[in-house]
Amino acid sequence: MSNKQLDLFSSCANNEEKEINELKTLTDLLLKYQHEYYVLNKPSVSDKEFDLLFDRLRFLEEKYPQYASENSPVKRVGSDLSSELPEVEHTIPVLSLDKAYSIPELLKWIEKLKKHSSASVSPVLIAEEKIDGVSIVLYYKDGILERAVTRGTGETGNDVTANVKTIGAVPLKLPEKVTVAVRGEIYLPLKMFAKINQAFDNKFANPRNLAAGTIRRIKSSEVSKIPLDIFVYEGFFEDIKISTHREVLKKLHDLGFRLNRNMMAFAESGNASLPAVDDFIKVSEMAEIASYITQEEKTKETLDYEIDGLVIKIDNIEDREKYGYTGHHPKWAIAYKFESSEVESVVNAIDIQIGRTGRATPVARIKPVEISGSVVSNVTLHNQDYINFLSLSVGDVVTVTKRGDVIPAVENVVKKGDPASPIWEMPKNCPFCEGELKPDGAHLFCTNDFCPERVKGQILFFASKDQMNIENLGYETVELLVREKIITNIFELYTKDFSVLEKYEGYAQKKIELIKKGLEKSKKKPFRTVLSSLGIPDVGPKVCQLLIEAGINSIDAIYEIAEKGDAEKLLEINGIGDKTAESFFKYFNDAAIRETIKKLSEAGLSMKNENAGSAKVSALFQGQSWCVTGSFDMFKPRTIAEEEIRKRGGDVVGQVSGKTTHLLCGQEPGSKYEKALKANIKIVTEQEFLELLKK
Ligand code: IVH
Repeated sequence: MSNKQLDLFSSCANNEEKEINELKTLTDLLLKYQHEYYVLNKPSVSDKEFDLLFDRLRFLEEKYPQYASENSPVKRVGSDLSSELPEVEHTIPVLSLDKAYSIPELLKWIEKLKKHSSASVSPVLIAEEKIDGVSIVLYYKDGILERAVTRGTGETGNDVTANVKTIGAVPLKLPEKVTVAVRGEIYLPLKMFAKINQAFDNKFANPRNLAAGTIRRIKSSEVSKIPLDIFVYEGFFEDIKISTHREVLKKLHDLGFRLNRNMMAFAESGNASLPAVDDFIKVSEMAEIASYITQEEKTKETLDYEIDGLVIKIDNIEDREKYGYTGHHPKWAIAYKFESSEVESVVNAIDIQIGRTGRATPVARIKPVEISGSVVSNVTLHNQDYINFLSLSVGDVVTVTKRGDVIPAVENVVKKGDPASPIWEMPKNCPFCEGELKPDGAHLFCTNDFCPERVKGQILFFASKDQMNIENLGYETVELLVREKIITNIFELYTKDFSVLEKYEGYAQKKIELIKKGLEKSKKKPFRTVLSSLGIPDVGPKVCQLLIEAGINSIDAIYEIAEKGDAEKLLEINGIGDKTAESFFKYFNDAAIRETIKKLSEAGLSMKNENAGSAKVSALFQGQSWCVTGSFDMFKPRTIAEEEIRKRGGDVVGQVSGKTTHLLCGQEPGSKYEKALKANIKIVTEQEFLELLKK
């Protein structure tokens, strides 16, 4: 080798050595930055700088894969390798908690603790929030995250290491070479949940289910897209002896874990083992514990994560061992559960509901239970994905809730009815017409236009109060008409002689006359209402109104656009998007539907807007911006009121804002009313509005 070659060689080798060193330094540095960002919430570098360093590390790891650390921050992006979530044994017992459901019950438990204590003073207690997430155990060996395992049975759980590594707040490498098992709760912040669940067709009843579903996903790259977070709350160190829980928490904090700092230590004034002020955890008098709990129950509403109670634990680790364990829970801790709307029930059957659009929805028929004041016996299961997520079979014991919203949801299977029974599956055919169920997105649809269940749904919608408002035609009559095949299509409401009902019990001449009258009256409804009553998917009253205002104000005008497939014409209307346009074309180019509309027209229903073009009648509201809220006696749907405003030159907006000048306020107004009050916006009642219109 020449000297020159030798030089070059050594400079290359030098360079390689330098890059490998850089790789190692960058690994540590980026781990530190991630910790600052995810755990401390105090980043010391900008996102841009972080990304630059991150890309550099990724480059170096690709160049020197043999030097890439198992715990590199680059691994947090997740991999596409599919893992089968193998079952592994826990090396610590992963116990559950005993529960108290009321403050007296909790105080009784504390009294019992005192009695069994060998010490002269009562033990120090720590109250932590009980995070409603997914329980996880993180196993570290010599400071390296080796394994993350779900709670599972408590003895064995699923190995979800690759997935957990994508959670930014989970340290991959600790600053000390400690061997420790850390218990914590993985959760999804509430604000994120609302946003992400929408993308899943709202199939998750709560953030816990979404977090649980995510952590079990096969592809960790999918997991990395969901911003899961973690709080840790227990540490079991192999070699380090720590005497109190407070010190364990402090140690975990110092090792870089994310802790929930909403906690409180309680001690009796004579207890010298706890200083009155602790630099890590606040201290209170034992007598304050009840009021602390009451306070926390209120605080719950302000948090960005769900808690379902508090966990009260003995602080002294040696004492803990003295109290001991049952097979299920430690005797040194208890969960104080907040009053919850979660109750258990049994799934007796799963039925299919077919809506007017044909969508097939599985519904659980459960043993009736009372939840937050009402009896629940039917609970929607959304679709097959949701059933798979729950691993639900008929006969299972489930928890049902009515959180925040009013719609009850099955949250979890707590006990399998028969462990051998398979997960329930959607049928292949519509249970009402035997027609094949066809998939569209996450749902199955019955596409048979003559399916009696669909027809029933269509008639009920068509006749409902906000649509054609067919008086005296109730649910039972519609059910009978469809069941007896008296009516197989909406238009037959107007062509069949309802006198045939006479032969059925409960249908006296008088009642039939009333129904006929209701039908006759409905014929006077304007075109806009006829159009929206057809129940065109994605075309509600608002879209119908927009169409009419845009001059598409007769069925002939509609057919012309549908035949030409003139999407432009629809999309140029503010408020009409691709989905609506697609649905519009599909609907109005369907021969069977056109036949129905023709028959409705022949029966005398309005097929064009009499108020042609909704021409301006005055400039009464010129320059004004109106918002409409609540329901009205004279304006049903309320788009009619909106049309009156527009006809007089006013703007109609969906939300109260700084620019809004008037709020037309009907019965049971929403939050818009309070907003308008605060913003000093003129509030107009229905009566006042009617007076204005007369001008
Ligand atoms: S301590 C042996 N602390 O609640 C120690 N658990 O119902 C037992 N949980 O499986 C656990 N927050 O997943 C503890 N601050 C907290 C907790 C907590 C939530 C969960 C945990 C456990 C379940 C028991």
